[in-house]
Amino acid sequence: MRVLITGCYGQVGCSLTEQLAKGANREVLALDRDSLDITNQEAVNAAVIEFKPTIIINAAAHTAVDKAEEEVELSYAINRDGPKYLAQAAQDVGAAILHISTDYVFEGNKVGEYDESDITNPQSVYGSSKLAGEIAVAEVCDKHIILRTAWVFGENGNNFVKTMLRLGATHNALSIVGDQFGGPTYAVDIAKALIQIAERISQNDKIEYGIYHLSGLPHVSWYEFAETIFDTALEKGIIKKKPNLTSIITEQYPTPAKRPSNSCLNTDKITNAFSIEASDWKTALNKIQAYTG
Ligand SMILES: NC(=O)c1ccc[n+]([C@@H]2O[C@H](COP(=O)([O-])OP(=O)(O)OC[C@H]3O[C@@H](n4cnc5c(N)ncnc54)[C@H](OP(=O)(O)O)[C@@H]3O)[C@@H](O)[C@H]2O)c1
Repeated sequence: MRVLITGCYGQVGCSLTEQLAKGANREVLALDRDSLDITNQEAVNAAVIEFKPTIIINAAAHTAVDKAEEEVELSYAINRDGPKYLAQAAQDVGAAILHISTDYVFEGNKVGEYDESDITNPQSVYGSSKLAGEIAVAEVCDKHIILRTAWVFGENGNNFVKTMLRLGATHNALSIVGDQFGGPTYAVDIAKALIQIAERISQNDKIEYGIYHLSGLPHVSWYEFAETIFDTALEKGIIKKKPNLTSIITEQYPTPAKRPSNSCLNTDKITNAFSIEASDWKTALNKIQAYTG
C-alpha cells in the first residue's frame, strides 16, 4: 500500500510514521506542516497526484482547544477545509481517507457511553470545526473512515501526562478537574488501529466505511488520570514525591472552551468490525520513562 500521512510530527502522526516503518510492502510519504499545509488545496492536489497514495491518513489538526475559541477561521481552515481537500483528492485518485476526529463533537450530557450514531452537539469551536471536518470528508470521499478518539497521550508531542509531570516537578499541590470523564488513549494504539484498517482496505477486504470510536479503558476523570500518572511515576522511580492532588469541579477551573463532562466513547463497533480493542492506557503508562524527555 502507498500511504500519505499529513501532520507527521504530531502525537499520532509520529506514532503512525514509526509504526508504518516496521512493516513490509509499504511505500510511505510522511509530510509535516512545512512540507504540506493541508489548508492549501493546490499543494494537497499536487502532493496526491505526484505520490499516488492508495491510503491518505490525516493526522493534521488544530488541536489547541482553548486557543481555537479565538482562532475560529484558522480552526475551520485546518479542521474542516484541509480534511475536505484531502478527501476530495483521495476521491479523485481512487484512494481511501482515514481521518481522525474527537470526542468533543458531543455535548457530554448523555448518561452512559457515546455510540457512533449518537447525536452530536459540540460545545466549542474546536469540536464544531472537527465535526464540520467529519461531515466534509464523508460528503466528498466514498472510501472514508472517521476515527473518533479522546484524551491522546504518547511519547511525542504535548499531552496531559507530560503536563502533569512537568507541573508536579515544581508544585507541592495541584487541583485537577474531577467531574469530566473520558478515556485516555495511547497514540501508538491509534496508529496501530489505523494501520490495521488501512491494511484491510488495501487487501480489498469488504469493510464498512464510516465513523468508528476508539479510545481507552477504563474511563476516568482527569483527576483519576492524574492520580494514576503520579502513582505510576512514583512506582517506577521517575519522581521522588507525588504532589498533593485535589479534585475540583469544572466551575473552579474556568477555560475559554467548554468541555463535555462525559466524553466516554463506546468502542464495540471497531472491535466487532476490525477486532481492534480499546486502548489499554494503564499498560501504556507503564512505559512512562519515555515521557519525561
Ligand atoms: N490530542 C488529543 O487529546 C486529541 C483528542 C481527541 C482527538 N484528537 C484528534 O487526533 C488527531 C491527532 O491529534 P494529535 O494529538 O496527534 O495532534 P497534535 O499533536 O497537535 O498534532 C497535530 C499536527 O498537525 C499539524 N498541523 C497543524 N496545522 C496544519 C496544517 N495546516 N497542515 C499540516 N499540518 C498541520 C501540527 O503541526 P504544528 O505543530 O507545526 O502546528 C501537528 O504536527 C487530531 O485529528 C485531533 O483532533 C486529539
